[in-house]
Amino acid sequence: MIFKKQEKLPKRVPRHVAMIMDGNGRWALARGLPRLAGHRAGTENLRQIIESCVEFGIEYLTIYAFSTENWGRPLEEVQGLMRILEDVIDRELPELHKQGVQLRHIGNLDRLRPELRQKVMDAIQLTKDNNRLVLNVAFNYGGRDEIICAIQQIIEKGVRPEEVTEELVSQYLYTVGVPDPDLIIRTSGELRGSNFLIWQGAYAEWYFTPTFWPNFDREELRKAIEEYSQRERRYGKTGSQAASE
Ligand code: FPP
Repeated sequence: MIFKKQEKLPKRVPRHVAMIMDGNGRWALARGLPRLAGHRAGTENLRQIIESCVEFGIEYLTIYAFSTENWGRPLEEVQGLMRILEDVIDRELPELHKQGVQLRHIGNLDRLRPELRQKVMDAIQLTKDNNRLVLNVAFNYGGRDEIICAIQQIIEKGVRPEEVTEELVSQYLYTVGVPDPDLIIRTSGELRGSNFLIWQGAYAEWYFTPTFWPNFDREELRKAIEEYSQRERRYGKTGSQAASE
């Protein structure tokens, strides 16, 4: 991949980046536009971010598109976000497939219209063998909901208490088979986790930027990766222990 001259290359690229795409509403408000225009601009922005992830060698990208709490937003916005998901599949799927993107979904599809649910499942099926980038779309996703579902399934299976380990719990999460996120990015200046990947993100590095999501571009992503590559990940150990591993 050709990098621009003088561009500082990130030394260590995270394998899995997750993003809380925040600030669409404020982006729209600042332009006198309806909130949904912000979500549409945010969706457009995804195209260059996906391409940039491929360019930087990121293997997994997880995006928080609709949380279990977002049902509480005005009906028009909820319906608009559902329509956006449908439009993205209709419009972008052939190109994503061509680029080698494997689509996955995390969350609960049960509350979606049956036709939309089927569309998501067909897109997952179509792209399941692609291996350029795994794009996990968190839609009707909540970290607590995910853990509750995992506990219910573990109990249903009759797993004995002493068999419950971190590895076992991970097997019951929506993200089964996906490595934990190395870097979680939140745009728009908010400093919260908002029920996103609360189990998987236990040792993730966080990066916050005041930029609203529709303006978060390739250069912003490069800066986030650059900062990540300078962080020391210790996993509870001392600095010298971590350095010798
Ligand atoms: C948070 O901004 C953003 C969301 C709740 C939705 C994010 C969704 C997209 C970018 C669309 C992509 C969707 C798919 C299906 C790929 P906010 O509305 O809370 O912004 P605010 O804090 O400024 O109000």
